Amino acid sequence: FVTPGPNGPIDDREVQVPADGRSLMKAAVDAGIDGIAADCGGSLTCATCHVFIPEPWQQQLPPPSADEDTMLDYTAEERRPNSRLSCQIRLVPALDGLTVELPARQY
Ligand code: FES
Repeated sequence: FVTPGPNGPIDDREVQVPADGRSLMKAAVDAGIDGIAADCGGSLTCATCHVFIPEPWQQQLPPPSADEDTMLDYTAEERRPNSRLSCQIRLVPALDGLTVELPARQY
């Protein structure tokens, strides 16, 4: 989880979690990653679990559902082409080594 700063990353936390299908949001919250708020607990109603997925990982993910796509319009930091909601990303073995960038804010 890479936290951005004005002059480059200000924090870089590595988290080891089993690729057991839990969500990226749950893994982040369980690991105490501050940049993920996840107010709705993963029910796709808050958009406070916003992350940016850099290449090449973006291509490893299934595209966002219509509901996720709609909620991405409500993120605090402006949506980018690689924006995702981490509660909708399932951790599977193909994502071993996944790097995630955090937005500067979730509110
Ligand atoms: Fe609320 Fe992801 S945790 S939308």
